[in-house]
Amino acid sequence: MFAHAEHEYSYPFAEFYDHTPLYLARPDIAFYVDEARAAGKVLELGCGSGRVLIPTAAAGVPIAGLDLSEAMLARCREKLAAQPPEVRERVRLVRASMTSFDLGETFPLVTTPFRAFQHLISIDDQLACLRSVHRHLAPGGRLILDMFQTNPAAMGDPEWMREREDTPETKLPDGRSFRRTARIVAFHRAAQCNEVEFAVYVTHPGGRTERHTQTFPFRYFFPKEVEHLLARSGFRVVTVFGGFDRSPLSNDSAEMLTLAEKTDEHS
Ligand SMILES: C[S@@+](CC[C@H](N)C(=O)[O-])C[C@H]1O[C@@H](n2cnc3c(N)ncnc32)[C@H](O)[C@@H]1O
Repeated sequence: MFAHAEHEYSYPFAEFYDHTPLYLARPDIAFYVDEARAAGKVLELGCGSGRVLIPTAAAGVPIAGLDLSEAMLARCREKLAAQPPEVRERVRLVRASMTSFDLGETFPLVTTPFRAFQHLISIDDQLACLRSVHRHLAPGGRLILDMFQTNPAAMGDPEWMREREDTPETKLPDGRSFRRTARIVAFHRAAQCNEVEFAVYVTHPGGRTERHTQTFPFRYFFPKEVEHLLARSGFRVVTVFGGFDRSPLSNDSAEMLTLAEKTDEHS
C-alpha cells in the first residue's frame, strides 16, 4: 500500500514552513552546525527550505542540500538570495529523491535533519537511500539519522486521532494569518507507519478563509531495527543520542539520533 509513497511538500505547507513556531523553536541547529564544522563539508538529505542548511553555510561550511519538493527548494533559494555571496557560494541545491541520487562528489558527513528519513516507508526505499548515502560518503564518513524515538504506548492511542491545534493563529508578513491542526488519520501498526494529517486554515486580510490539508504516511522506527538496517547497508553505529544536547538515548528520550560510520565497501 505504501511501497513507493513519496511525499512532496507543496502549497501552502512549503510557504508556511518557516513561519510555524513549532519548527522555528526546534533546538537542533547548533547540533547540526557543530557536526558540520567538525566534518568540514556536508550533504543534507531533505534540506527543505534551508532551516538548517543556511545557518550551516553561514557558519562557513560548504553544504549540498537535496530535496524532492520544488516548493521547499524554491523557499530555500529565496532565502539564500538574501545571503551574502560567500554564503551562497557554499551551497549546492539538488532536486532529487533521497532514494536515488548521484551528485558526483563525496562528503565526510550526510545528515537527515528533522526526521526526513521517516518519509521513507518501505524497507526497499530505506535501503536504496542508505546505499546512495554509502556511495556519497568518503572513507570513514558519517551519517546522522534523525528520528523521533517511538513510544509504543502512543502508537495506537485514539487521543492522537482528535484534531488538535499545533500552531495558534500566526500572522504572516503579507497580512494573512494561519493556524494549523494535526491529527493521526490511521495507525498502520503492521506497516509500522501512521497516516498524518495537517490542516492549515488561512485567513486573508479581507476575512476570506481557506482550508488546506496535507496527508502523508510517516514511518516509525525502533533503535535495534535501525542498527540492523545500517548493518545491511555497510554502516556501524557509533552512538545514539536521545536529544540535541547529546544525552544518550534513554527510555524517555523524545529524539533518536543515530550516528553511524561507513565501514566496508558496499555496492
Ligand atoms: C520535515 S522536512 C525537514 C526539512 C529540513 N531538513 C529541516 O530540518 O527543516 C522533511 C523534508 O524531506 C523532504 N522529503 C520527503 N521525502 C523525500 C525524498 N524521498 N527525497 C528527498 N526529500 C524528501 C520534504 O520535501 C521536506 O522538505
